[in-house]
Amino acid sequence: MQFDEFIENSVSIILKYQESSGAYPACPYFPNYQYSWFRDGSFIADSMSRVNQIESAEKFFKWCSDIIVKRKDNILSGELLDARYTYDGNEVGNDWGNFQLDGFGTFLCALKAHENRHNRSIEQYREASGLVQFYLAKHWQEPCFDWWEESKGIHAATLTCIHAGLESFKHPDAAKVKMAIKPDAERTDASLLICGILGSVTEDEFSSILLEIEEKLVSKDGGVYRYTKDTYYGGGEWPVLAAMLGLYYSKIGRTDEARQKLDWIKSLANNDGWLPEQSNANMLHPGEYFQWIDKWGKSANPLLWSHAMAISLALDI
Ligand code: BGC
Repeated sequence: MQFDEFIENSVSIILKYQESSGAYPACPYFPNYQYSWFRDGSFIADSMSRVNQIESAEKFFKWCSDIIVKRKDNILSGELLDARYTYDGNEVGNDWGNFQLDGFGTFLCALKAHENRHNRSIEQYREASGLVQFYLAKHWQEPCFDWWEESKGIHAATLTCIHAGLESFKHPDAAKVKMAIKPDAERTDASLLICGILGSVTEDEFSSILLEIEEKLVSKDGGVYRYTKDTYYGGGEWPVLAAMLGLYYSKIGRTDEARQKLDWIKSLANNDGWLPEQSNANMLHPGEYFQWIDKWGKSANPLLWSHAMAISLALDI
């Protein structure tokens, strides 16, 4: 398969920054993101698997697997796991909301998809994937932090990732999780796009949520916000979410609109070809921007998850 220059650039950025341990830094230069998340990393590994970067994806799966197996006793005794780790696989140890289940579901999905796509044995991750299934089946009904690590609750986006992960390994509890997924009962949040993408709700059920996202969370330039009250770095538009909207458009045959999302993402690349976590061209709450600059410096760039989602969208189109 031939990949275009845009994809090649994103792949080389991800490869450049992947740690020798297999960890994918969320962002190599933003101090608070110099860790590896199960969520970001699983999406990144999935896109790397899609572009035949088998070794890179498997190095990440191994990194995850070592973390899980090392905590076997904790998992079996009902303890909770963190969502992000240092590059060498240790807990980060700060008080930032850390109990999140979605990334473990996404890890299972990425692993299974990789096995099917490349006909690779995933035997070496069998113990880890079994432990993750046990962990998710045990804790899925407990409130955990959302994708944005801000609010604790039972979130449809999280349940969708858990469901998809359990389902891909044919775990008997997958059906129960699916029954609990109720995206229309939640605030309009672009993370809900994953429910449409992974099909945890039907296209019909998802149509009203899609309309709300389009009405409330798409900027005049086509970027996508997380949710209307987002004040993080002023509440800008996220390439990850524009890519997800594009992936959903592509899934339902609205290919031109999918292409527009990709074009918007491409327009954000800086001279080094980096894609940021967010664009601050059309902030929802510009008055909040500078307090974040004062607190944490410039926002994350490059964000490896942005590159990963852009790769997946470009391939889909
Ligand atoms: C986002 C998370 C993400 C993390 C690292 C946070 O600001 O809310 O979804 O996993 O950054 O990219």
